[in-house]
Amino acid sequence: MRLYVNIDHVATLREARRTDEPDPVEAARIAESAGADGITAHLREDRRHIQDRDVEALASSVRGVFNLELATHPEIVTLACHLRPFQATLVPERREEITTEGGLDLARPTARLQEAIDRLTAAGIRVSLFIDPDAAAVAAARAAGVPAVELHTGRYAHAWRRGSAALDELQRAARLARDGGLAVHAGHGLTYENVGAVAALTEIEELNIGHSIVSRAIFSGIGPAVAEMRRCIDSARPHSGGR
Ligand code: PXP
Repeated sequence: MRLYVNIDHVATLREARRTDEPDPVEAARIAESAGADGITAHLREDRRHIQDRDVEALASSVRGVFNLELATHPEIVTLACHLRPFQATLVPERREEITTEGGLDLARPTARLQEAIDRLTAAGIRVSLFIDPDAAAVAAARAAGVPAVELHTGRYAHAWRRGSAALDELQRAARLARDGGLAVHAGHGLTYENVGAVAALTEIEELNIGHSIVSRAIFSGIGPAVAEMRRCIDSARPHSGGR
């Protein structure tokens, strides 16, 4: 199972002072050395954490996979098409939200979404859609013609202590997506405590994890924080050791 480390919150700390430390590009380098298969960064329209110069530097310095998260704003899609990360994950974005609160609203797909998918795909970028874990969203993603989806694990992250309903929902959606020919990714709100059950779902091949790793890095350093998450994932995976 692939682990992509989201380094947005390294930039959040830097932007709190609008200075030059800590550097998310250096964090990405260390995360990769510590076992991350890729790096994820979200260039938001309001530029609250990651900046254009970060994305440019990451596009040339990440050795594994660079997964750029973006909304459908034409200006940011243009930048992505120019930088050509291996993967682009399209997410919904609302200015007032603290973080990405739900999946894309595919019940009302917009021309702008399809245009973003088409432009990114034409630039040779693998496109993934961040969706809620439900059957309708999976069907809509298939209809949109993308190769991959990232299932929003936020509901699971809130509810995992209170029974298995949210995990079951995640597994059903993951199975539907995989059986429909989509590559299945997952992320949002995953922590050292709750990642195991998601890592054990064999339908899922990639996790995107940020806040929990960057939080732990304050105490342990980013390398040990990534290595520990790597261990949590690998030990939960059936036939352990297999990534
Ligand atoms: N995946 C997507 C699409 C996201 O928007 C985010 C948050 O930026 C993450 C994964 C990572 O979430 P977290 O920081 O809660 O681990």
